[in-house]
Amino acid sequence: MREPYARTVDPHVVISGSRDLPGEIYRNLRAAILDGRIVGGERLPATRELAVRLNVSRTTVATAYDRLISEGYATGRVGSGTYVEANVATRDGRPAQPRRALRSRRAWESVPLPAVFRVEHPEFDFRAGVPDARLFPYDELRRLTARQFRSPAVGSGVYGEPAGHLGLREAIARHVGVSRGVRAVAEDIIARVLLKPRDRVAVEDPGYSPLRLLFEAIGARVTAVPVDDEGLVVNALPTQTRVVYVSPSHQFPLGMSMSLPRRRALIAWAADHDAAVVEDDYDSDFRYGAKPIEALQTLDKSGRVIYVGSFSKTMLPTLRLGFVIVPESLRIAAQSAKFLTDWHTSLPLQAALATFIDDGLFARHVRRMRTAYQGRHEKIVEVLARDFEDELAVIPSSVGLHVSAIARTASVDQIATLARVASQAGVECFPLALFSAGDNPRAGLLLGYGAIDTDQIEPGLNRLRGCFAAMDERGSRG
Ligand SMILES: Cc1ncc(COP(=O)(O)O)c(C=O)c1O
Repeated sequence: MREPYARTVDPHVVISGSRDLPGEIYRNLRAAILDGRIVGGERLPATRELAVRLNVSRTTVATAYDRLISEGYATGRVGSGTYVEANVATRDGRPAQPRRALRSRRAWESVPLPAVFRVEHPEFDFRAGVPDARLFPYDELRRLTARQFRSPAVGSGVYGEPAGHLGLREAIARHVGVSRGVRAVAEDIIARVLLKPRDRVAVEDPGYSPLRLLFEAIGARVTAVPVDDEGLVVNALPTQTRVVYVSPSHQFPLGMSMSLPRRRALIAWAADHDAAVVEDDYDSDFRYGAKPIEALQTLDKSGRVIYVGSFSKTMLPTLRLGFVIVPESLRIAAQSAKFLTDWHTSLPLQAALATFIDDGLFARHVRRMRTAYQGRHEKIVEVLARDFEDELAVIPSSVGLHVSAIARTASVDQIATLARVASQAGVECFPLALFSAGDNPRAGLLLGYGAIDTDQIEPGLNRLRGCFAAMDERGSRG
């Protein structure tokens, strides 16, 4: 039977001797079949073709094919060709993988990949840190990006600057007031230019776990430092700390701002202990009412603060655009690290973003989103205060895309059960304990409002309320 759609493979065959040519070809093909590089149903090249490619006679190839056929690795079909048999990869019990596979360092094997975002289009989406992609001005960014593909800079094929597109750096500098460079994976870069293996790093507990895992993965000793209602407890920092990572504008995940006295104390501590402070300002473009407190980067007069900004919340997380403002003393090292990591971030996208900012489209989008998110923020706080009074204590916050609430009576395990039950009922939200770095996880929930419409908040929270009630009825509490 002809198999018109079978794929003809182009196998890698290396002939190293000249004594047993059919045997060598046979062994190459057999190895490829056994370790799955050629799979069942695929067609081997015609004998004539392979003979020409290997510079051997056609009979030599035909002898190798006959042996594969006689041993059950392949089947010959008259007028059609030689096909690899299905299910032969383990026929003789050989492992498909090499016996001593390469092993990575342990820390890289235990990083939990973010499965929480695999649920697509939940009915009620309260996942934290997700902006509303439905309201993004795609047409404008498409137009600006398309224009970049006609520009000489992109068309030249020459690599760009690791520091980032100059126009974008200038646009960001105007946007944040001061600029030192553009990055794709800034935290990673900073970690690499500042830390040796076994250096001490302090992170917030609870805190943004990807950063903690990154520091652990590069071999740092990580201390989880508690936070109170003024932010990171500076007095609890270990004296040997080389880098302190904080999210002062909107503590992740709890949501409060670091107070001004605490900010001053942290900067003074860093200066006294020759430490660096990484200021993660990931979502404070969205601020509802409360006056901003000066950024650590602005307060710092001793060149200790590295400011990390992201376009993931203001624009889209899928763009992977962000920036880092480093003290002058780290500028060269940060550029070198970016160069050695991935040289530079996609240039057409950087250039399109620069125009997006310069033309006022960024500011307009942020203003529009701020209005939308403010309505959602108010709604969620109102419903939580009214309908969850007995279950949850909302942590006051007036920034960003999520609020957090501490469970009044439920335990960490019960909240984990609640989140599972809620997910089955179409409500996605994160337990606070997901972001615990130490031995004292807090029972509570993060409720994001970036991806949910204002009029869906109340029905969504009603559904969640029902899940608390279901937990009581099942007796999984008390
Ligand atoms: C605390 C914190 N920092 C940073 C980010 C953003 O990271 P990126 O710019 O890599 O998207 C997030 C995203 O959720 C976050 O929660």
